[in-house]
Amino acid sequence: MNRLQDKVAVITGVASGIGLATAELFAAEGAHVVGVDLREHAVGELPLQADLTDEQAVIELYRRAHEQFGRIDVLFNNAGISPTDDDSVLVTEADAWQRVQDANLKSVFFCCKHGIPYLLEAGGGSVINTASFVAVMGAATSQISYTASKGGVLAMSREMGVEFAKRGVRVNALCPGPVATPLLMELFAKDPERANRRLVHVPMGRFGEATEIAKAALFLASDDSSFMTASSLLVDGGINGAYTTPL
Ligand SMILES: NC(=O)c1ccc[n+]([C@@H]2O[C@H](COP(=O)([O-])OP(=O)(O)OC[C@H]3O[C@@H](n4cnc5c(N)ncnc54)[C@H](O)[C@@H]3O)[C@@H](O)[C@H]2O)c1
Repeated sequence: MNRLQDKVAVITGVASGIGLATAELFAAEGAHVVGVDLREHAVGELPLQADLTDEQAVIELYRRAHEQFGRIDVLFNNAGISPTDDDSVLVTEADAWQRVQDANLKSVFFCCKHGIPYLLEAGGGSVINTASFVAVMGAATSQISYTASKGGVLAMSREMGVEFAKRGVRVNALCPGPVATPLLMELFAKDPERANRRLVHVPMGRFGEATEIAKAALFLASDDSSFMTASSLLVDGGINGAYTTPL
């Protein structure tokens, strides 16, 4: 308990899924949570509505967080999208490609660009960027722009981890396997065969829970991971250790 006592944590994508579960866990561990989402919500001590693809909106949200609490210690850059028109490379249109790149990769760039200076000012902190298991292996259910965006998040996190290592700011990527959140369930409800194709690759034989990813985010946010930076944490029910081929 209290592993984040009095830390100020800005969490994006808090209206549902992993972000919501993490906001609740961080608050229970003593953090002041600034919750950010595109959608209207009431998550965190300071709930903010912002479109993270808009650079000015990102600048403004950190300004407000800093104004309210006087410091920022943790960034959990977690918001993302996974739309159905992002599919195989053969059928995905350029607009779907770009929409996903903006929401999943450019948003993380903006959040790091404008959030990390506050962590440096505070003398250190932890940045956690949500990537995915598809950043490190090819998935049987292709979403080409999503996969490329998450590969970008992973590479970017590693590089920033190196850049800020001596200045007390740790940067890691969190790579969840398939988690039973609205994002994934919506996608798979439309296509049960696609869901089965993914589930067959999970050695545990089930999707993860958002709370299980939140606990990994807590580890990365807290001093429990004090010697970990420029790295990634796969929380995927064993997918990365399994030998499987598409059915
Ligand atoms: N669910 C999974 O199986 C899974 C697996 C691996 C990685 N992830 C990643 O985890 C993260 C969270 O996923 P989730 O499953 O909890 O999704 P979710 O859809 O439940 O929540 C994502 C939230 O991000 C918000 N958001 C999207 N675009 C935004 C924007 N431009 N500005 C502000 N907020 C925005 C949405 O409104 C939503 O509330 C995402 O980055 C996702 O890619 C999810």
